[in-house]
Amino acid sequence: MIYLDNGATTQVATEVVKEMDEVMLNDYGNPSSLHSLGRKAKELIEEVREKIAKEINATADEIIFTSGGSEANNLALNVLESGDHLITTKIEHHSIEVTLKELEKKGIEVSQLNVDAEGVIDLEELKKSFKQNTKLVSVIHGNNEIGTLQDLIKIGEVCSEKKVMLHSDCVQSFKKEKIDVVKANLSMLSLSAHKIHGPKGVGALYVNKNIKIKPLIFGGAQENKKRAGTENVPGIIGLGKAVELDLELDKVKELRDYFIKKVESEMEEVKLNGSRSNRLCNNANFSFKYVEGESLLMSLDLEGIAVSTGSACSSRSLKPSHVLMALGMGAEQAHGSIRFTFSKFNTKEEVDKTVDVLKKIVERLRKISPLRKK
Ligand SMILES: Cc1ncc(COP(=O)(O)O)c(C=O)c1O
Repeated sequence: MIYLDNGATTQVATEVVKEMDEVMLNDYGNPSSLHSLGRKAKELIEEVREKIAKEINATADEIIFTSGGSEANNLALNVLESGDHLITTKIEHHSIEVTLKELEKKGIEVSQLNVDAEGVIDLEELKKSFKQNTKLVSVIHGNNEIGTLQDLIKIGEVCSEKKVMLHSDCVQSFKKEKIDVVKANLSMLSLSAHKIHGPKGVGALYVNKNIKIKPLIFGGAQENKKRAGTENVPGIIGLGKAVELDLELDKVKELRDYFIKKVESEMEEVKLNGSRSNRLCNNANFSFKYVEGESLLMSLDLEGIAVSTGSACSSRSLKPSHVLMALGMGAEQAHGSIRFTFSKFNTKEEVDKTVDVLKKIVERLRKISPLRKK
């Protein structure tokens, strides 16, 4: 299998599995228990809290462990109450996008910023969108589909001037981009372990200590009463180990750039979606004219190459991706788009093989395409 779907999830690193295994077998105490086994488990998760805080220039008491990026995003939006106004974008991950509809039902006003053809928001539009009741701005940092990065520092400056909280979904960018919550004036930040060779089902929300966050889950006093439930100790340990590991970003970027260059030089009527320079180092998203993305994905899968159309969560839907549509693409071009996302476990040989296979499949699909005018 050539795995080019690292935006959906990554292969868990062996080092991560080993540490999790160790904890499951030996340190199985409940962190809330008072005996030594419980205290050991508590100690272990507190070390990870420190590690994550250090990574983003926060303090340990500002980190809340969650079941992943989706929960972290939902928890962040839970600061909003009826009558509040939220500014967000048209290219958020579903864990924000779908939640907006629920917020509106609760009487929260929502404004969604447009993006340009590369997927970047307009700071002037942001400045004009503030209202008296604006309580929160939530902007995705690295987009999961097209890889476009927003300028968090500039967005943070605007929010700080307006004295409004800023949250960012950094699930795709965490560890791939340097993020400093103080410099970027971030009040909240979401991250997830499984995008960085950690386990699935664990993540965190950074919440600035001056902010009162309302829990989504009630019960025990875990996570400083912000998130009830026995902590996912092995998962948290896996997240901690993943944070320590080298993502080999230079190698990943080199492979990605090599792939883009090869596709653009060896194939016709292809278009790189998103920004050429201002994008996540592991992401390439291409539209292949006259080709239907799902057919291309399934044909690649038959050849042992895993990719995705749009975001993994939307890939079972026939609706064109809301992110691609926000770039101003027609439905046809959006349907012909495929996301290739790389990791340190990929090789140059895999890229060569992928482009060879891609060329053959695209040629075959174009021959039978009803979209192509003869
Ligand atoms: C940008 C972004 N936000 C949030 C999530 C959700 O994270 P999780 O799968 O940990 O719930 C994802 C996962 O695809 C993502 O790419």
